[in-house]
Amino acid sequence: MESSTSAKSAQVNIIEHPLIQHKLTLMRRAETSTAKFRALLHEVSMLLAYEVTRDLPIKLESINTPMTSMMAPVLAPDKKLVVVSIMRAGQGILDGILELMPSARVGHIGLYRDPSTLTVIEYYFKLPHDVGDRDMIVVDPMLATGNTAVAAVNRLRHAEPRSIKFLCLLAAPEGIQHFRDIHPDVPIYTAAIDEKLDSHGYILPGLGDAGDRLFGTK
Ligand code: URA
Repeated sequence: MESSTSAKSAQVNIIEHPLIQHKLTLMRRAETSTAKFRALLHEVSMLLAYEVTRDLPIKLESINTPMTSMMAPVLAPDKKLVVVSIMRAGQGILDGILELMPSARVGHIGLYRDPSTLTVIEYYFKLPHDVGDRDMIVVDPMLATGNTAVAAVNRLRHAEPRSIKFLCLLAAPEGIQHFRDIHPDVPIYTAAIDEKLDSHGYILPGLGDAGDRLFGTK
């Protein structure tokens, strides 16, 4: 289900599950409505979350079934997660992840790209107090230029989480390269790597502006 791209790095994981690929295609279609886009991102995010958390450790616990007792696997309680949404489009992925892992803690980082310079401006930052005891999953649907993701992880590193993963829906080769240059130790999880960026930093063929499509703002 999960493969690594040899051209990029061992730490770029393309999650190629057929359900994810099918839903992503529906999301790419220009005629897909806001409601449908939102529902699809929610569904895809649950599937992506399943892969991103594949390495979570488990421990055995004694339980009683109606028939007998057994040692049964549960998530190790000391392996706590924090999911950080890069606002605003990250919210769409966050909601899906929380459906699967309702007790995960949540952080938010608000960043936007200045449209003329494509540089990143921070306008919001809030994390749980115990982030140092948690593994962090940073989420944003689009890894385009990589500027936002790089800036977010630069900032989040200062909070010293136990580990960081970056999860997106769609990535551009340029964004992956940039991110990997600055944060080579942070694994990237994505459903697809598209062809390239356009001159405005949008992914081609892509799906347009994920925030606008998610919230119906255009
Ligand atoms: N952000 C988006 O929402 N879409 C892109 O194609 C690039 C960045």
